[in-house]
Amino acid sequence: MPKPSPALIKKITALKKKINEHNYRYHILDDPQISDVSFDKLFRELQTLEKQHPELITQDSPTQRIGATPLTSFNQIEHAMPMLSLDNAFSDQEVLAFNKRIQDRLGCDKAIEYACEPKLDGIAVSLTYQHGKLIRAATRGDGNIGEDITLNSRTILSIPLQLRGSDYPDTLEVRGEVYMPKKAFQQLNQKLQQAGEKTFVNPRNAAAGSLRQLDPKITAQRALAFFTHSVGAVKKGQLADKHTAILQQFEQWGLPCCPQTQRAQGIEACLDYYHKMGAQRPQLPYEIDGVVYKVNALALQQRLGFISRAPRWALAHKFPAQEELSRVLAIEFQVGRTGALTPVARLEPVFVGGATVSNATLHNIDEVNRKDIRVGDTIVVRRAGDVIPEVVRVIKEKRPQHTHRIQLPKNCPACGSEVTKLASESVARCNGGLYCPAQLKEAIKHFASRKAMNIEGLGNKIVDQLVEKSLIKDVADVYTLTTIQLAGLERLGEKSAAKLCRAIAASKNTSFSRFLYALGIRDVGISTALNLAQHFQQLQPLMQTDETYLQSISDIGPIVATHIKKFFTQTHNKEIIQRLLAAGIHWPKPTLNKKQTPLAGKTFVLTGSLNDLSREEATHQLQEQGAKVSSSVSKKTNYVVVGKDPGSKFSQAKKLGVTCLTEAELQTLLRSL
Ligand code: IVH
Repeated sequence: MPKPSPALIKKITALKKKINEHNYRYHILDDPQISDVSFDKLFRELQTLEKQHPELITQDSPTQRIGATPLTSFNQIEHAMPMLSLDNAFSDQEVLAFNKRIQDRLGCDKAIEYACEPKLDGIAVSLTYQHGKLIRAATRGDGNIGEDITLNSRTILSIPLQLRGSDYPDTLEVRGEVYMPKKAFQQLNQKLQQAGEKTFVNPRNAAAGSLRQLDPKITAQRALAFFTHSVGAVKKGQLADKHTAILQQFEQWGLPCCPQTQRAQGIEACLDYYHKMGAQRPQLPYEIDGVVYKVNALALQQRLGFISRAPRWALAHKFPAQEELSRVLAIEFQVGRTGALTPVARLEPVFVGGATVSNATLHNIDEVNRKDIRVGDTIVVRRAGDVIPEVVRVIKEKRPQHTHRIQLPKNCPACGSEVTKLASESVARCNGGLYCPAQLKEAIKHFASRKAMNIEGLGNKIVDQLVEKSLIKDVADVYTLTTIQLAGLERLGEKSAAKLCRAIAASKNTSFSRFLYALGIRDVGISTALNLAQHFQQLQPLMQTDETYLQSISDIGPIVATHIKKFFTQTHNKEIIQRLLAAGIHWPKPTLNKKQTPLAGKTFVLTGSLNDLSREEATHQLQEQGAKVSSSVSKKTNYVVVGKDPGSKFSQAKKLGVTCLTEAELQTLLRSL
């Protein structure tokens, strides 16, 4: 083989540097600058050159993450310093007591500065870097002795094989969590399910199962990630004097840290952080089970020291458990607006995710059969944030005798009409249409809802009565209701009836998109309704258009196009629309050509909480002006609207030099149009 030329060596070195740089931008900064395709091209180029010159392959080459031979067992590794655990708190009182203990011990009554971090629900791992090279990775084990998972850890793309820069300590042991992002967990389970294999119960188990694979090739396929959260043994080198500053050093060296980490002055600010993270939890891309508070100054940490196996200077404030056991008392089928029959489990009440739960959705009959949920079963119920509680799985060992599989009813429980289910769909539907009182009730509730016609006071209980008393037979009948009729209903005095009548009248003054959304066309949600309204500006052209044309509008595919066309072709629907318009429903005539508004085609991103405007309202107003509202900041973003406690989008905007607006500036801008 010819000796590699200096030019080739230079080329390989440059490629490695480039790939590492892009890896860093992607996994650590969350700010990729090239497409996946371009990245793959660079990667393959390096692979080809290394194949031609294997003598130039180094252990820290990005192509060398996956080792060749599987292990037969994991070696044991003794930790240089024990890996400790954390004390737990479940209430604000316990957190306040923790702060008081710290202040008492330090003899200080001033606010303590804390670092607040999410408590990641992953697997604790120690990584050791020698002269910047990853030489060892180990699990926590019993805290003193863990397992050598170096080969598997090398396959995790967010773990650097080589630290960046040069000012890191000679020996640096960091600790953190290996976790599986929620999205990767769902994809993995889907794949396992399709292959008929056993799925994982939660992302933590999936991460543990993937990390403890003897064959690193399997780990490499599992999209694991890593966040650094603490320091282990350090030799010959200087770390900063605050925990948050150390995390910043870690980031500079290419070690990923959780972007949700924040400093808090005093314990009240820590509690605010806890509630904020609790609210953000469902949207976070990774699973957390609480937050961790750490006294930020290392000098104070040293003075506080440890007690048994946990530091006195840190505390895990846990969220209420999201999963609990309960028992299925009954399974009923609810009929929705489109006639879909949704099985619902009535449960023995149980406190989970911070609320008492007595019902859980079972989604559809296929899901009930797949999970084999039966009346009498003991089940795991999950409630995460504001998400509807669901049955995760059945504890089969606890199943009583003589239970039966659940069958789809042949007739609708609300109207007795035939129930049909296409083999290609998981949803079963009642064929009763608006003859079915359950569908009619749901259609009216939707029509009156806040984002639709916004009829304040026309709540569920009132709608139920109106349908049961046959005062309403379709949505257009809402506008025939009189104060006298309404005053005859339970829970409605004369005053409230008059108020509701006024609200019904006021709702006639609406917007085109609200009206379209209120009609309840299948699959036409708010954003599709807005697109349609923006596109057609008037009802007649929309009613007369065809499916091919509809599909040329963004977000509208063949199925939605069919639903829209079908809706406007049905005589019954055309009649209702006529009656609604005759009752006086109207919206502003199109005056603006959206393409010519100053905001047309401009992309906005909203971050943080807005005070006066809700996010929905801001989005609505911007879209009405022809602007796009996107969820992530890129070079193409024109404006980022920054509310209170903005997230990483704000820093991203600053980094990319995108114009930032305050809420007040946005409002001034909208008013000026
Ligand atoms: S600090 C001496 N920070 O929770 C303190 N731990 O219950 C060491 N964990 O074994 C831990 N998120 O694996 C720390 N932000 C975070 C954490 C965190 C999750 C895990 C860690 C530890 C366990 C203790």
